[in-house]
Amino acid sequence: MSDVTIRCRKDGPLIVTGDVTLTDQEGTVYDISKHENVALCRCGATNKRPFCDGTHRKTGWAASDTVLQNDRNEAPG
Ligand code: FES
Repeated sequence: MSDVTIRCRKDGPLIVTGDVTLTDQEGTVYDISKHENVALCRCGATNKRPFCDGTHRKTGWAASDTVLQNDRNEAPG
C-alpha cells in the first residue's frame, strides 16, 4: 500500500500527502520537502501553477465530477 494520499477537496484542489516527487513538464523538480502536504489546482485558475492559490474561491468554481458509489474502488480505463 502506498504512503501517498490524494484527496479531492469539495470544489477545491487536490491535496497530496506523502513522500512524492513533483516535476514540471521539463522534469524540473519542485522542492516540496518542507511541506507535509501540497494543494494542486484542479480548477485551472491559479496564478501559481501547479499549486492552488485559493483563486477557486473567488471564481466560485464547482467540481462537476463525483465518484459514483459503485465505482469507488475502480479506476477508469
Ligand atoms: S483549485 Fe484552487 S486555485 Fe484552482
